Amino acid sequence: MNVETAFLEQSRMCATLGSPFMSRLLRLIGQNFAHHDTCIRLFKRWEKNSRIIDDVLPLRTAAALHALVLEKINHGLLDVYPPNTASDQALWTAVSVAFKQHEQFIFDWLESSPQTNEICRAAPVLASLNYCLSRVQMPVMLSELGASAGFNLLLDRYSLETGQTSHQAADPIATMSPDWMGVIPAQQNLHIVDRAGVDINPLNPLDRKDYLRLLSYTWADQQDRMDRIKQIAPHQTTQIEKADAAEGAKLTLQLWPGGELHDIGRADFHGRWVSWVHPT
Ligand SMILES: C[S@@+](CC[C@H](N)C(=O)[O-])C[C@H]1O[C@@H](n2cnc3c(N)ncnc32)[C@H](O)[C@@H]1O
Repeated sequence: MNVETAFLEQSRMCATLGSPFMSRLLRLIGQNFAHHDTCIRLFKRWEKNSRIIDDVLPLRTAAALHALVLEKINHGLLDVYPPNTASDQALWTAVSVAFKQHEQFIFDWLESSPQTNEICRAAPVLASLNYCLSRVQMPVMLSELGASAGFNLLLDRYSLETGQTSHQAADPIATMSPDWMGVIPAQQNLHIVDRAGVDINPLNPLDRKDYLRLLSYTWADQQDRMDRIKQIAPHQTTQIEKADAAEGAKLTLQLWPGGELHDIGRADFHGRWVSWVHPT
């Protein structure tokens, strides 16, 4: 796959995933970058690079531009980004200028893989826990591989609302309303005794630069996802261990600490399929 196809393909995907703005932005970049010197230099690394799909170059690029908007670094972009509207021509002109003015910023941003944190991924984990606990009641330890900012580790603080049923958190900080077929297994008493996460490149939501990264990976016209991150970030205080989860069992549970036997359920999970390479 070449750079142009990667952008046009991702544009189509964004359209089906409810982001008309991202779809338009990536289509315009895909259609125009070949005549833009800065873009050619920025994307050179991915020409004839078989990792172009795994690296999700279009999403890295969109995150870089979004960061310029969030930080109010480029006012031309602010004028054409949601909630404002602009014609295709005005959007591409602003993007084109931003590429030229912030080449080094965008170059640096392109180094890192997108780390999308979407708390609705916690919904099936919560539903599965309800099912397991309906069979055997016990305290639970959560451990997440590829935890990124660790938002899924707060799943007991999220309520889950679907058309037919709901799961109400005792002390909610967010509500998940994903598309859901069927009923959620009946709500059980969920007692989480420990939380742990590992990530090869953890993002600390309380750190200003990491927080900007988290927001930049949301899609600019999906305000609800951005709002959820803003809502949750101050509550996520579990420190995510920096390690490669593939290197042995990084998250270990001592079932018999100090020789004492504890009945405890362990829920290991990973938020989504991921193809990821450490930035070198
Ligand atoms: C798409 S994010 C998912 C974040 C979070 N789990 C969620 O569902 O919202 C994938 C995460 O997996 C991490 N990751 C990928 N390969 C890894 C590995 N070998 N060891 C540890 N973390 C890894 C990445 O750094 C990234 O933060």
